[in-house]
Amino acid sequence: MKKLAESIKSKPYIGWIIFACSMAIVFGLGILAASITERRAEIATLYANKKVEIEGINAKNEEWGINYPREYNTWKKTKEMNFSSKHLGNTTEDVLESRPEMVLLWAGYAFSRDYSAPRGHMYAIEDVTHTLRTGNPDHDHNDMQPSTCWACKSPDVPRMMHEKGVEEFYKAAWSAHGSEIVNPIGCADCHDPETMNLTITRPALIEAFERQGRDISDATPQEMRSLVCAQCHVEYFFQGDGKYLTFPWDGGFTVEDMEAYYDNLDYSDWTHTLSRAPMLKAQHPDYELFLLGPHAKRGLSCADCHMPYKAEGGIKYSDHQIVSPLKNVSSTCQTCHRDSEANLVNYVYEYQDKALEVRDRIENELAKAHVMAKTAWDAGAAENDMQNALQLIRQAQWRWDFAVASHGGSFHAPVETQRILAHSLDRTLQAQLELQRVLFTLGVADVKMPDISTKAKAQEYIGLDMDKLNADKQKWIKNTLPTWVEKARSEGKIVS
Ligand code: HEC
Ligand code: HEC
Ligand code: HEC
Ligand code: HEC
Repeated sequence: MKKLAESIKSKPYIGWIIFACSMAIVFGLGILAASITERRAEIATLYANKKVEIEGINAKNEEWGINYPREYNTWKKTKEMNFSSKHLGNTTEDVLESRPEMVLLWAGYAFSRDYSAPRGHMYAIEDVTHTLRTGNPDHDHNDMQPSTCWACKSPDVPRMMHEKGVEEFYKAAWSAHGSEIVNPIGCADCHDPETMNLTITRPALIEAFERQGRDISDATPQEMRSLVCAQCHVEYFFQGDGKYLTFPWDGGFTVEDMEAYYDNLDYSDWTHTLSRAPMLKAQHPDYELFLLGPHAKRGLSCADCHMPYKAEGGIKYSDHQIVSPLKNVSSTCQTCHRDSEANLVNYVYEYQDKALEVRDRIENELAKAHVMAKTAWDAGAAENDMQNALQLIRQAQWRWDFAVASHGGSFHAPVETQRILAHSLDRTLQAQLELQRVLFTLGVADVKMPDISTKAKAQEYIGLDMDKLNADKQKWIKNTLPTWVEKARSEGKIVS
């Protein structure tokens, strides 16, 4: 500062330059403030021109679309399936076919039957009804999923929760609400129809905040641009017999915090049928991992990249085609970064490729660990001798799944994702060492790895009868599913 003051004295024009710069900054901030005010005004005009009143929890997106055609028309594009980046995009991919080790990793759990990469929000209902994970609820009674499975699929969910009560909703059978949950993720999931403000419609998020001693109604408008997504794009589990949807956030957002939460409850999602390890299934901790990355630390929200502004006839609005930001680099990354499109895309690919290098190695080694444990059991291993190894397998797979099931994680939080994957690989190899020791005492010198080079071979190895599962599901899709849709239509629950 002293030096600056001296140079201003000797060269007075520097003072004027500083003055001019400050004025430019003040002017810039003024424009920003004006543009925010202007946007509020624009939005206010939109509301003044409402053509129809939206009352209560209206799940029918088409009716909101009458008032807000731009948002509605871009929302409808979540039906498009025409964009692939190097690893993601809005097209489907049979993930088990691409990486058959995953079938083995999920042996004994429904994910080993069927797992496809996500596509657009418009497909949420179609995909949950068609996947083999929801089985054939007509006669597969042991296998039937709870209604909690609908929780992140539709604005009919808050409507039904309001009508039936939250607990009653979750604990019903999944099939009990088949003719009610019929509109795909839409306006009433994120908006208050009166004010069009962003709103939280899912009790699990509000309750998780409360248990952390926070009040979600204190969230800033910028935080809300992420929190609406955090209603669904998070880690969760179904708690207790009532299958109450719960976010395991009481101790914090890291992979270790959530593991401690589950360990305290002595919770596991299933027992692995090969290794008999008590397993955890990570869902998709997109919000939690994002919070630990560089963009969240600079105050960005999900909508900044996944719902960029668009302009049409002088009106600025949010693009509601929620998709990979790499589909529109000029309206996403380049609103802040001056790099070329090619550079920006490459930053993303570089992070992803590096994470996938470690991921692929973990999937191979973890599959081996499960088979080694099975070999030890088959050779008569004692329960006690296996405990350490089984705990290590649980910890290793939880970390792998946490990093991998958050599909955007390797870009949202590259360093954290690599850290988690490193710990997963470490525990996988520790588990193998432990198992080697047990096998040695049992006199087993050789572990034979099965041929799991394709999805079909891996499914056969873990004992799934895929022909029966497929035939059963097809029968249900042909016979029962149309009756759900018909009933919903006749009761006016969907706009046809
Ligand atoms: C009501 C629950 C819910 C909310 C709210 C929600 N999502 Fe999703 N999202 C899903 C589901 C379910 C899928 C998978 C749909 C499918 O493939 O069937 C998905 C898929 C996606 C995809 C992959 C789609 C593609 O084409 O690549 C992205 C990206 C995404 N969501 C981002 C977001 C963002 C950003 C927000 C907040 C602005 C958000 N989601 C809010 C449930 C939700
Ligand atoms: C996954 C959550 C989500 C869904 C689903 C959603 N919106 Fe939005 N909407 C947002 C976000 C985020 C914004 C930006 C709000 C802000 O910046 O304050 C927004 C903004 C808006 C705005 C304000 C003007 C603008 O474009 O920024 C309108 C109007 C709107 N949405 C209408 C709709 C309609 C109609 C639907 C259903 C067809 C819908 N939204 C579905 C999250 C959602
Ligand atoms: C700084 C920009 C940015 C922000 C902010 C951001 N994302 Fe992403 N997101 C990306 C990029 C880039 C990808 C990778 C896309 C690709 O590879 O095609 C991605 C991928 C995803 C995917 C996987 C899409 C798929 O096809 O499987 C989901 C889901 C997702 N993000 C959700 C979120 C959520 C939820 C938030 C907020 C908690 C968020 N994102 C915040 C840039 C962002
Ligand atoms: C709303 C503004 C904004 C948008 C949109 C945005 N970024 Fe950023 N990005 C930032 C800020 C701010 C930083 C931190 C910069 C710094 O500290 O130098 C950052 C940092 C980064 C970094 C360095 C990360 C690190 O480890 O520090 C990369 C790489 C990056 N962004 C890529 C992207 C890509 C790719 C997209 C589009 C998918 C994108 N960004 C979208 C604002 C943005």
